[in-house]
Amino acid sequence: MKQFLLRDTLIYLDDNSFNSINKWMSLNHFDNKFIIADENTSIHCLPVLLKHVPLLKDSFIIKMSSGESAKSIAQVEAICSCLINKNIDRQSLIVNLGGGVVCDLGGFVASIIKRGVKFINIPTTLMSQIDAAIGGKVAVNFQDYKNQIGLFVDPQIVFVYTPFLLSLSHDDLLSAQAEIFKYGLIYDRLLWEQCRLESSNKIMNFKNMISDCIKIKIKIVESDYYDYQGRRMLNFGHSICHAIESVFLSTKKQPVSHGFALSVGLICETYISYKKFKFSSKKLSIIVNTILSVFPKINLVKALDNLVLKYLKSDKKNKNRLYNFTLIKDIGVAVVNCSVSDIHIINSLDYYRKKCQT
Ligand code: GLY
Repeated sequence: MKQFLLRDTLIYLDDNSFNSINKWMSLNHFDNKFIIADENTSIHCLPVLLKHVPLLKDSFIIKMSSGESAKSIAQVEAICSCLINKNIDRQSLIVNLGGGVVCDLGGFVASIIKRGVKFINIPTTLMSQIDAAIGGKVAVNFQDYKNQIGLFVDPQIVFVYTPFLLSLSHDDLLSAQAEIFKYGLIYDRLLWEQCRLESSNKIMNFKNMISDCIKIKIKIVESDYYDYQGRRMLNFGHSICHAIESVFLSTKKQPVSHGFALSVGLICETYISYKKFKFSSKKLSIIVNTILSVFPKINLVKALDNLVLKYLKSDKKNKNRLYNFTLIKDIGVAVVNCSVSDIHIINSLDYYRKKCQT
């Protein structure tokens, strides 16, 4: 078992036991306990959790739909009314058992209900184990815009149990690989090289990378919890990623997974970085070809470019009507608060489409 501290939150990383969460539960008393799980975690993870953590056995289970479209105000309302009907009070505990959607939404509900009750995150996807469950950001989407309503509130603990990853599909694991690439590109050249090597073997040893990613996330969040400066490093690839997710949500196409959209965002924003910081075209090709070698190509028709720009215009970080991006000036070196124009974005989308044809 490994243990990390981020502000007041203990993060336990465990490959084979529930000892840490059992100990924490035995040291803390709650009037009522509620577990929020989705369609997948209620089948694959909940029975394991209840079997191994006896103090959670009497919890009331709230099941929600899975997927990004569930991260809505309507879902918040439904869960709040369920919690109130079941007499939640301020001495209650909410347990978020799921991926990024459950942790973001469950954390948001916990932060507002009765002006805030304690919550813990038990992330079950690789993506949430290395990112979403850690760092205190909770939010829901609003009118197809991602994470527009939310706040910063820390969970009591985060319990990362890696065997939950065994229930994931290949696509879920692959999705998270985009975030691991991102950590390497913004912060850790060695991690990037390791990703590159392992992706050429078509199989990445995720387990070893979880701890590296958690450590990087902690360092970055500690430097700037409220996301004004250094934490914005984590946004690399995400401005365009979120706009693409919104386009897919609003055009009612099959939703695109966060990780797949992030693979496009990383490529486009690496291209913009290359244009702005003038690193070698060889470096650009290495980064882009590595990402394209593992991710499926996303069909982004040119006719939707204006919609991408529309969603980018509502990015929380924009300043003076310019897009505020995080870029890289080298592998492992991020630069925050870079001004980017419409033309940079359109050119980067054209570049992505061209690369997909080759
Ligand atoms: N997932 C980005 C952040 O925590 O800031």
